[in-house]
Amino acid sequence: MKNRSLISINDYSKEELLKILKIAEEFEANPRQKILSNYVIASLFFEPSTRTRLSFESAINQLGGRVIGFTDSSSSSVKKGESLRDTIETVSLYSDLIVMRHPIEGSARFASEINDTPIINAGDGANQHPTQCLLDMYSIQKTQGTLDNLDIAFVGDLKYGRTVHSLVIAMSMFKNTRFHLVSPEELKLPRAVKEFILSSGLTYEQYTDINAVIEKVDILYMTRIQAERFADPIEYEKVKNSYILENSMLENSKDNLRILHPLPRVNEINEDVDTNDKAYYFQQAQNGVFVRQALLASILGLR
Ligand code: CP
Repeated sequence: MKNRSLISINDYSKEELLKILKIAEEFEANPRQKILSNYVIASLFFEPSTRTRLSFESAINQLGGRVIGFTDSSSSSVKKGESLRDTIETVSLYSDLIVMRHPIEGSARFASEINDTPIINAGDGANQHPTQCLLDMYSIQKTQGTLDNLDIAFVGDLKYGRTVHSLVIAMSMFKNTRFHLVSPEELKLPRAVKEFILSSGLTYEQYTDINAVIEKVDILYMTRIQAERFADPIEYEKVKNSYILENSMLENSKDNLRILHPLPRVNEINEDVDTNDKAYYFQQAQNGVFVRQALLASILGLR
């Protein structure tokens, strides 16, 4: 993976993804190795973030690296009209690797083609979020002991949820994944992502009722309805409360069920679920540090 950008999750092979998960185990056991002391990482966030930005920064700081960048592009020369091309050209002169989140789909791919500085896509619009995908895979493997033969339900905004798109593509690489897709009619998984499942020789079922899947799945992957992606706020109002998971709904779920959510949540998981042993979303967010350490070390040729 040395010097290779990560833009879409299928830029890396299944073997390469598994290798990163293996390296992440090493960092989980020992996260404070000073291997990045000679490196500067740029963190360019053109969209808000808590977990992705801060877990990258924590990962880099724990490894002894330095971080430059911005959390709000209005404090950069983008505000004066500078293009993304010129921004990337310039930041490449100051850093060894760029982590970038941007609201426009395809922006990270564009950035990766400007020069040889590796780019990690930290989310491009409603398209992909490959580092979230890696930590989701790590969390699934850690809680289920395998990435094969799993029933996974994706619930909520499957149309705009970039974490869902990346994880469906990744889990299509594994044996016998059974996809249960729960969404309002208006927010179904895009056709291209569903075709990826079929072209991998797997199948999916679509539902509108979350209760139809809770008792049969190993992973319940809840998502937020992405208000910021709707062109018409009235359309968001119609679907915003489509799914609210409550503790009582989990009574007959499988013992090995784990509830994941990329976070932030709005109201789709009631706080009474937080104390259920099957709730795993905060541990999932913590796993992001180890997986991002593994990815940085791999791309910089240190693992
Ligand atoms: N999961 C995720 O991308 O969260 P943030 O938007 O807080 O980075």
